[in-house]
Amino acid sequence: MYDYHSHILPGIDDGPADIDDSVTMAAALRKAGFSTIYGTPHLIKGSYEADNEAVLSAASTLQTRLNAENIDLKIFPGREYYLDEFLGNYLKNPLTLGDTRYILIEIPNHASTQLVKETCFRIKCSGFIPMIAHPERCSLIAMAQKQTTVSRFRFTSNKQKTLGEKQYETALLDYLKDIGCAFQGNFGSFDAWYGPDVQQTANYLKKMEIYTHFGTDVHSMRGVNRLNLSHTSEAVTK
Ligand SMILES: [Fe+2]
Repeated sequence: MYDYHSHILPGIDDGPADIDDSVTMAAALRKAGFSTIYGTPHLIKGSYEADNEAVLSAASTLQTRLNAENIDLKIFPGREYYLDEFLGNYLKNPLTLGDTRYILIEIPNHASTQLVKETCFRIKCSGFIPMIAHPERCSLIAMAQKQTTVSRFRFTSNKQKTLGEKQYETALLDYLKDIGCAFQGNFGSFDAWYGPDVQQTANYLKKMEIYTHFGTDVHSMRGVNRLNLSHTSEAVTK
């Protein structure tokens, strides 16, 4: 299994403070069935601002230590980019997920729909693929999901149906899907780690086959111990 979103790298963000804790997490995740983990520390202006070199170095150091301890796990570097007005500057030198073209993006709840659309479109135009981190936790997408559900039930005549479909087409989720974004779900969302509303949205997005990737988003052993991997699907084995 692949974990496309984790805070396993030591000393970068609010993940483990030292490498021993990272190794403990890595060993437990290997035992749980993961073969590949992307370490994706936060990059948030004013909170977590470590540069790419620090992330690359931490991933390399952790891999060396795992190899030395015969823990058969591949670690790749990445970032969890925060979508705000500072992101454009950070993306002048983007750190993708390993050697893929994916850039993991977290959409804050206060972001405007317009900023999300423009930013993701720009990333696509520059040759990268935005991977939306835990869309089920993003209120803009949860709202889009609710609007879609409401519009499908509310409009019954042909004229009204057209209006319903139009609303559906303009939902943020559809826009992001149409321009080719990827969507990474958190395993914990299906177990209501973030509450029943997020769980409901996660189940809806899974049913609609929106998810392209999954991740643990674990920050510590507490998260690793809480993982219930019964929600895994063929999507996480690629
Ligand atoms: Fe995260």
